Amino acid sequence: CGIVGVVGKPAREVILNGLKNLEYRGYDSAGIYLNDLNGHDYLTKAVGRIKNLEAKLTPDEQGLVGIGHTRWATHGKPTVDNAHPHFDESHRFYLVHNGVIENYRDLKEKYLQGVNFKSETDTEVIVQLVAKIARENNLDAFSAFKKALKLVVGSYAFLLVDSQKPDHIYIAKNKSPMMLGVGDGFNIIASDAISVLDQTKTFVDLQDGDVADVTKDSYHIETIDGEAVERKPHKLNIDPNAASKGTYEFYMLKEIDEQPAVMRRISNDYFSQDGDVKVDNDIVKAMADSDRIYILAAGTSYHAGLVGKNLIEKYSEIPVEVGLASEFGYHFPTLSKKPFFIFLSQSGETADSRVVLKQVNERHLPSLTMTNVEGSTLSREATYTMLLKAGPEIAVASTKAYTAQIAVQAVLAKAVGEAKNLKVAEDFDLKNQLALAAEGMQELVDGKEKIDALAKKYLPCARNAFYIGRGVDYAVALEGALKLKEVSYIQTEGFAAAELKHGTIALIEQDTPVIALINDPATSDLTRGNIREVQSRGANVMVFAMKDFAHEGDDVILPKIDYYLSPLLTVVPTQLLAYYASKNKGLDVDKPRNLAKSVTVE
Ligand code: G6P
Repeated sequence: CGIVGVVGKPAREVILNGLKNLEYRGYDSAGIYLNDLNGHDYLTKAVGRIKNLEAKLTPDEQGLVGIGHTRWATHGKPTVDNAHPHFDESHRFYLVHNGVIENYRDLKEKYLQGVNFKSETDTEVIVQLVAKIARENNLDAFSAFKKALKLVVGSYAFLLVDSQKPDHIYIAKNKSPMMLGVGDGFNIIASDAISVLDQTKTFVDLQDGDVADVTKDSYHIETIDGEAVERKPHKLNIDPNAASKGTYEFYMLKEIDEQPAVMRRISNDYFSQDGDVKVDNDIVKAMADSDRIYILAAGTSYHAGLVGKNLIEKYSEIPVEVGLASEFGYHFPTLSKKPFFIFLSQSGETADSRVVLKQVNERHLPSLTMTNVEGSTLSREATYTMLLKAGPEIAVASTKAYTAQIAVQAVLAKAVGEAKNLKVAEDFDLKNQLALAAEGMQELVDGKEKIDALAKKYLPCARNAFYIGRGVDYAVALEGALKLKEVSYIQTEGFAAAELKHGTIALIEQDTPVIALINDPATSDLTRGNIREVQSRGANVMVFAMKDFAHEGDDVILPKIDYYLSPLLTVVPTQLLAYYASKNKGLDVDKPRNLAKSVTVE
């Protein structure tokens, strides 16, 4: 979910704009509470996108204080009643929330018997609880809020407004991101800084356990127990245009097209003038000292980890295990003696990954977060950070962050291999390979019409589809399948090419689309055999093959590159295929149904 609050300036437009920028965090429903500090207040909610909320607002609904929310449903369907802000029975308090309250049932039963609830959400329980505590103990809003928070178990970023003292916004943060933006005569609060960069560039990072009382020209931060804490504001140097769509219809295509530039940026930033790889020595040393690397991630980042495993094992000669954070967190394997943990996360906020990192920290083990977002939670909580440098990624389906994750893992693999004096690492001309990747990507994105034509030919009527590949192509098959299914709703599975015949080939029918990926010299002929197997059962096969192994009639010829880096190129036509399949169906490519880009709940 996404949150924006502002005090000290006409709030409506600021909040609506901020929420639009935050729609990547969820877009099931949205709501806004405005107070004009002159005795009038307004609450409006709508199902669906922010534009539906905007359409519902009447011109007189304005305020100098306000809080808004865009929701990704966890407890309760996306209805108007379940949309935030929530309020108590007496309509005194208004609350927006991102996160999950684990003990909301207990709280309801123990403290709120007889209260008339309007929604099915865990959030409403908290606002009713604050109201009850304030009323029964005759407490002001901030004191009642803190008292309520002591009873709460779960993750939250809360903004609270008391309509009896509406020139304050109260904040609480635990495990869900929340930034305080400091303005001249106003203050603004948001789930991420980028969403309100047009208002201010000065931010205070709130930490878990912080609560704050914010007015138009002051903010006071303390712990739930009332101990004052000091958090220094800092300036954020991000160009707000980096997050704009420019002339593109959808962010996804813009971000696919940006990948050559991202490769060049990574090459510039992670190599010295003399061509030496540049990675923080402490990271290299900690990793070179370890006997096993554990890569943890979710979604697309997990798929990038599967590629990273091959790179690190090849160029650093350290065994690597890749785990789904959500599984690993609750079923820790027997660890090696000197483990090193890598967390891959575009957003740096994924709750599933945070669960693992927490346990890694409890065991005092070294960790590295590779993320696109400087100062994100996973980055703050890990021992080390390496930035992906992909620039803001807005489309829900991740593209340039995936290729950046692969490239930065390659940088790390080379640096560690060199520290271990491995010849294979010294001979690995990564700078040159990244230049080849940038060129190759450019060639592939320049040929996008061809992929559009493939999408038009094979996918409009498809209900299901398959990606097949071996070795690193298998890892890309998983990512290609995820991309296609998440944006086009065609059920797609990625398969190790040879595995198909052990069961799943039963699903191949006349015209089932199968996309075969071929980069692996050791297995390219075998994969050709698997292609023939599905073709004989009626499949429409599209082949994306590296130049050296391409056959006449293959659909996409992938430029030449180091086999271990080939996913950087192979993935591009898979991203484009997903994009066109979705766009040609008239879908909202950037915001597929039911998804959110940054998932801060487990
Ligand atoms: C969400 C997004 C995915 C993403 C995953 C992991 O589910 O929809 O696109 O891959 O989270 O996100 P992260 O920010 O940790 O890479």
